[in-house]
Amino acid sequence: MVVNLDSGITKVELDNYGNHKALSDVITCHITESLCSRITFAEYMDLALYQPQHGYYVTAPSKIGATGDFFTSPHLGSDFGELLAQQFIQMWHLLGQPDRFTLVEMGAGQGLLAGDVLRDLAQHQPEWANHLDYVIVERAPALIAEQQQRLQPWRDRGWSIRWTTLEAMPPDSVTGCFFSNELVDALPVHQVIVQDGQLQEIYVTLPEGDAETAFVEQVGPLSTPQLAIYFQDIQIDLTSARYPDGYRTEVNLAALDWLQQVASRLQQGYVLTIDYGYASDRYYNPMRSTGTLQCYYRHRYHDNPYIHIGQQDITAHVDFTSLQKYGEHCHLHTVGFTKQGLFLMSLGLGDRISAISQSQASDPQMLQTILRRRDALQTLIDPMGMGNFGVLMQSKGVDPNETLIGLRGEQMVIGL
Ligand SMILES: C[S@@+](CC[C@H](N)C(=O)[O-])C[C@H]1O[C@@H](n2cnc3c(N)ncnc32)[C@H](O)[C@@H]1O
Repeated sequence: MVVNLDSGITKVELDNYGNHKALSDVITCHITESLCSRITFAEYMDLALYQPQHGYYVTAPSKIGATGDFFTSPHLGSDFGELLAQQFIQMWHLLGQPDRFTLVEMGAGQGLLAGDVLRDLAQHQPEWANHLDYVIVERAPALIAEQQQRLQPWRDRGWSIRWTTLEAMPPDSVTGCFFSNELVDALPVHQVIVQDGQLQEIYVTLPEGDAETAFVEQVGPLSTPQLAIYFQDIQIDLTSARYPDGYRTEVNLAALDWLQQVASRLQQGYVLTIDYGYASDRYYNPMRSTGTLQCYYRHRYHDNPYIHIGQQDITAHVDFTSLQKYGEHCHLHTVGFTKQGLFLMSLGLGDRISAISQSQASDPQMLQTILRRRDALQTLIDPMGMGNFGVLMQSKGVDPNETLIGLRGEQMVIGL
């Protein structure tokens, strides 16, 4: 995710603290009605982003892209989707060219990536109009409406595109690929903290007297044993002497539930996850003592999730080791892990950069277009930004010796 410098501002009714008033009221109600008058940070983040009427992702207009708070790889042009399409075509061949090939895009944002993938397939693989079942799993109703509008021309041309939920998909029903770009970082995370040698959890509650924010934090015992099990599984002990008192970090249990659902619906094929994050040893490095939580609001990013509630995005980096390990537990084979820059270069982005460097501009406007596209391609592989995103490939029922094109470059081993 990249902060968008041309962001627009959407007017909403604000409470005394400057938060989306209706959303703030709903969160207050959840807190007062809950046991001990507090909710976990994961519940808070879930409400702030996805509360069905007022959550950040739920309210139109869309927050992603030119008029939003940040942009993602598909906003840099169609190259990202076109290169992904090359990977999907190879997967189809590796799966024995099945008559029905299902691509499940999860967390499809504005539907840009879907449009780019479909355009490329229509051009290079027109017979896929008869084979492809493009399925979108999206949580935000406003984004579903936007996706449906954007993709209607493809449906009119006879391509199968449909929207569903993971829950509604029958077990073992998919031969093809489940994929996502920046979905996992948008799932609600638990926050934990080390206090007096004990692993504790951060809760969200109401302030007692005057306060600068509508909600404040409270520390308490872990809300679920799953949190302790999570750290056992990745062999990280936050209560060891390596970690300072007050060490704070995130745990994405929702990502494990999501992966379990995906794995159980995949009969044969791949799971491709692109997001920013690290392997566990880096994620839970003792030096990273304040976690990875980030909020995106208009032109800036910061680490305070208790301001601009409902008007800012809240994200946390992804622990790829836990996805790998939990995936194996769910019978997903780890095909490989690489960085977005290497992945896209293996799929042909280098050739695109060479071609654009050699193109001649006949007028200033064309020169502008060429320079803009060259910048966009460089941004996709920038090692200090999107190029450093992780790309995890997992599979089920596929010959593990077949190399995927996107992994032909240098591969990294996830630290276990
Ligand atoms: C950061 S945006 C990324 C959008 C898009 N993939 C892109 O690259 O522009 C996260 C997306 O995931 C969606 N989302 C979050 N949780 C989800 C869930 N549990 N199931 C499906 N979609 C979800 C959000 O509504 C949003 O569309």
